[in-house]
Amino acid sequence: MTFYEKTIPSALLIGLFFFLFVSVTFLDKAWAPPLPPSANAYTTSAHGDITIGVKRTATELTSYSRGNCAHCHEQHASIAGVEPDPVGGAPSPYALFADPNPTSQTTNFCFNCHVTVGAVQSGGSITNYNYNVNFGGGPVAAQSIYDAFNPATGSAHNLNQISTFIQTQWPATFGTQSNPCGGCHNPHIAKKNNRTGVAYDATQAAISRPTDHEDLWGNDASERMNISAGVNTYRAPFFVGANPAVDPTLHEPDGMTRSILSVQVQGSTTPDYNTFCLDCHVNAIPPYNAINWSITGDQHGHRSGNTVNAPQVLRPPYTLDGTNGTGEDLPTNFVLSCLDCHEPHGTQGANNIYLLRTTVNGMVGAAFSSPTAFYNFCQGCHVTNGHGFPPTAGCGGLGCHIHGQIF
Ligand code: HEC
Ligand code: HEC
Ligand code: HEC
Ligand code: HEC
Ligand code: HEC
Ligand code: HEC
Repeated sequence: MTFYEKTIPSALLIGLFFFLFVSVTFLDKAWAPPLPPSANAYTTSAHGDITIGVKRTATELTSYSRGNCAHCHEQHASIAGVEPDPVGGAPSPYALFADPNPTSQTTNFCFNCHVTVGAVQSGGSITNYNYNVNFGGGPVAAQSIYDAFNPATGSAHNLNQISTFIQTQWPATFGTQSNPCGGCHNPHIAKKNNRTGVAYDATQAAISRPTDHEDLWGNDASERMNISAGVNTYRAPFFVGANPAVDPTLHEPDGMTRSILSVQVQGSTTPDYNTFCLDCHVNAIPPYNAINWSITGDQHGHRSGNTVNAPQVLRPPYTLDGTNGTGEDLPTNFVLSCLDCHEPHGTQGANNIYLLRTTVNGMVGAAFSSPTAFYNFCQGCHVTNGHGFPPTAGCGGLGCHIHGQIF
């Protein structure tokens, strides 16, 4: 009797505990509503990261952990102390610590931290180099996003025009107070793919398409250049220091030694920047023309660049075996990425008017003697211009090789 009195209840109890354990551990996954995705994504974002994330220097925020939303948003318009009083006595839109969308190239909410000197982020600055430094191995020019957008000489995406463009184009996503950087990034989910001391990781995407603002772009394997190239071929350019005489050697975007036959050099780790940039540039944005990257468009895009006129002599890796020991790979129809030639933010250097990279296919120091003198830049990939014009004649003038021309 004693035996049953004691053991049956405990057996039931054990059974009950087991049932609860199973329910809590497994079954809730099926029954419970999904976790709020933004909170989940935020904690794995660069800003929400507890090691490298947002941390303002204001003493009132000392007790707020790194990554806390309060380093960008303020519950009561202002945290007082050293903070400026709220503009017009009212909180900034979205309760941010500064106005989100001043119509200016130099004043921007994000520049309060992404600037070389005087950032409100602890440490006083955030270092961000140009694309062709991070992913091409080129020499440092701009040290911060502010510098990239404000070159002493050179060119940059115009933030005011981007604001106007995204608000007009996608009014359901962007309002009058939307930040222009938000056209290409979402500060709540953006990640860092080139973290110091950690191998390049394409899943840690920094960008979001303006047509899909709540999602990252390039983090999924289906959003990379190898997929974008389709039946054509992407071949990642050389990284500075590559040896053009051998394959394998160093390639973008991670500067690792790889063969042209590897999936990585075919673009499996390079975000599909074409789809990304074309969200906006499939449209003409006066004075700029629409960009047509399809089979009816540019030869650097899906149209074959090998069948019209005499072939240009391409440098490696666009040769038969990827080295300078063989000739141009004529049977292959290459598709380039916009960022093989352009910077996304801005570029430094005299007469560089189209955000053109100064480190191209492993070649550093592309210079522009006039705003149409692309010769030197084109030489990063082409051995000769084939028809004997001197470098100063330029390649883009006289209706020649600009976007939209087929020869
Ligand atoms: C790096 C700065 C930054 C951090 C950190 C940040 N936000 Fe934001 N947040 C912004 C900006 C900028 C906007 C305005 C959106 C725009 O420009 O389109 C915004 C907008 C919002 C909005 C308005 C709706 C929307 O998504 O546009 C909400 C709600 C919000 N944030 C909540 C949060 C929460 C909650 C956290 C922390 C989990 C957080 N934010 C962390 C910068 C930040
Ligand atoms: C309070 C300071 C602060 C503000 C304001 C801020 N950021 Fe950041 N941001 C950071 C920090 C810190 C990091 C991580 C930096 C690092 O370790 O390189 C970061 C990282 C990023 C990254 C990740 C990519 C990378 O490789 O670094 C993007 C993209 C980014 N910021 C965009 C923005 C945009 C867009 C805004 C404005 C809407 C903004 N940030 C405003 C502090 C800030
Ligand atoms: C036209 C689109 C576009 C606009 C506008 C834009 N960015 Fe970017 N940004 C990019 C692209 C593309 C990259 C490279 C992404 C990658 O790492 O794959 C990038 C990279 C970054 C990075 C990471 C740099 C690093 O060190 O790796 C930061 C931080 C950043 N942007 C901040 C900003 C801020 C702040 C603004 C507004 C002042 C802004 N961006 C506006 C497209 C844009
Ligand atoms: C990042 C490397 C790269 C750069 C920089 C580059 N090109 Fe090309 N170019 C290519 C590749 C690869 C092809 C072959 C495309 C194909 O296979 O469809 C090509 C094809 C061409 C063609 C078609 C060749 C033919 O046989 O008809 C012309 C013309 C051309 N490029 C001109 C230029 C000019 C002018 C510049 C400078 C403004 C330039 N390229 C810069 C890589 C580059
Ligand atoms: C969110 C919309 C948007 C996206 C995405 C975008 N652009 Fe732009 N771009 C613009 C607008 C608006 C202009 C016209 C204003 C200006 O000159 O910046 C422009 C202008 C340009 C110009 C001419 C600028 C000059 O001053 O010479 C180039 C080159 C360019 N974009 C390249 C790119 C590349 C490469 C990408 C992809 C990394 C890209 N854009 C993505 C909106 C966008
Ligand atoms: C082979 C190098 C190369 C590639 C790849 C490339 N561009 Fe360009 N881009 C140039 C050059 C050179 C110019 C300046 C001459 C001209 O206007 O075409 C330019 C100019 C532009 C302009 C200003 C156009 C105008 O009407 O003046 C825009 C916008 C632009 N590029 C966007 C893009 C986009 C988007 C992509 C990817 C789909 C891309 N580019 C790919 C080299 C390139």
